[in-house]
Amino acid sequence: MQFKAPKGTTDILPDVARRWQYLEHKAIELFSIYGYEPIVTPMFEHTEVFLRSIGISTDIVQKEMYTFADKGGRSLTLRPEGTAPVIRAYVDHNMNQLPQPVKLYYTGPMFRYERPQAGRYRQFWQMGIEAIGSDDPAIDAEAILLMINYFKSVGLKELTLYINSMGCDEDRPVYIRLLKDYAEENREKLCRDCQKRIDLNPLRLFDCKEESCQLVMKDAPKIIDYLDKECKAHFNKVRQYLDTQGIAYIIKPELVRGLDYYTKTTFEVVSPFLGAQNAIGGGGRYNKLVEEFGGPPTPGIGFAIGTERLSIAVEREGAFLSIDNKMDVFVAVPDEAARSTAINLLSALREAGISSDLDYMGRSLKGQLKYADKRGFKYTVFLGSRELESGEVVVKNMETSEQLEVPLKELVDKLSEILGRPGAVARVKGPGTGVQG
Ligand code: HAM
Repeated sequence: MQFKAPKGTTDILPDVARRWQYLEHKAIELFSIYGYEPIVTPMFEHTEVFLRSIGISTDIVQKEMYTFADKGGRSLTLRPEGTAPVIRAYVDHNMNQLPQPVKLYYTGPMFRYERPQAGRYRQFWQMGIEAIGSDDPAIDAEAILLMINYFKSVGLKELTLYINSMGCDEDRPVYIRLLKDYAEENREKLCRDCQKRIDLNPLRLFDCKEESCQLVMKDAPKIIDYLDKECKAHFNKVRQYLDTQGIAYIIKPELVRGLDYYTKTTFEVVSPFLGAQNAIGGGGRYNKLVEEFGGPPTPGIGFAIGTERLSIAVEREGAFLSIDNKMDVFVAVPDEAARSTAINLLSALREAGISSDLDYMGRSLKGQLKYADKRGFKYTVFLGSRELESGEVVVKNMETSEQLEVPLKELVDKLSEILGRPGAVARVKGPGTGVQG
């Protein structure tokens, strides 16, 4: 009986996994430069954490959560996103008593029961940041800049940045009333889900993927036109900072971003190299979320990048640098006599930071060389009884086929030199190597 990975999930095989590691490594490097520290939260939370934050009437909560009861009868949910768990942890660990803002980053899998398609999965990876404690528009601009700079650092050039402001408690009620009235006037043209959204949460009308609904919403009143003085000034400041930094953006008034917790700034970056699922990252401000979890009034802002979509975009833009996945040295052992020495040699090579391996499949010498060629080693060292006796080994450059004779006891140093690995001090121990074990 053979099994496939569950629908909407994929196995990330070494070639792609290596690319992901590279993308993650670059992200962590840059997030740290901007002052962010790592946080790891559980992959599942009490369901209430997501109901409270993402919002009852969102698609995520209504249709997409992996919710289950554990053996203790608790309702738990696999995290569909990373912001709510981080804020839950911020409150749980009284991080408001730390110097503010608290800047955190995370990477890991998220889970949404969505209809799988290219760029949309049921388990997908995110890399995200959250800056908690400041309402300074400069930090909004910094978060946006960080996301853009990260994309540039991994070679993406063709990006579009959309920004919007969602207003706040002061201006929302007036706007929501207007939006509701507009939706009521157009009720007949809206799908059944949207008709329900009119009463539940009219902002969610902007999330609908139905063409007819999108057409109606195109002419709907937009929150950005109803911002109060403070929100407007905040948004203008964010724009001013972006302008100063030379960051190009498009204001997209319908960018409400599928999650209920946003206030003020929202943003999203899309790549032309992806199909329908073209958002490679998005985020925004959430000035009410800490309070929602029982903490003191505390503003916050953050974003998350989708690793799969990013990886596809970088690949399609031809921006992946060739990642060196070749091993350094294969130790070919033509006869059993030299195997112990070969194993010692392998340890010495590895201690010196030289990636190396030998045959564990009982292959003939010819078979070993074929394997070394296929697997991709830079050098092959021949170590048989003859070499043990003479104390000289042959090192073959697998690309040029050039051969070099090296005294066995100098082999590690010589290979370190050839491969440009400084400071190798390990010595081969054992018979015939000149070093006592
Ligand atoms: P989000 O827009 O729901 O925001 O997700 C962020 C990114 O995750 C998307 O732009 C996309 O690249 C990726 N993504 C989302 N769903 C899927 C999926 N089903 N398959 C593949 N990739 C996906 C958030 O999650 C917020 N927590 C971001 C945030 C942080 N806001 C404030 N702080």
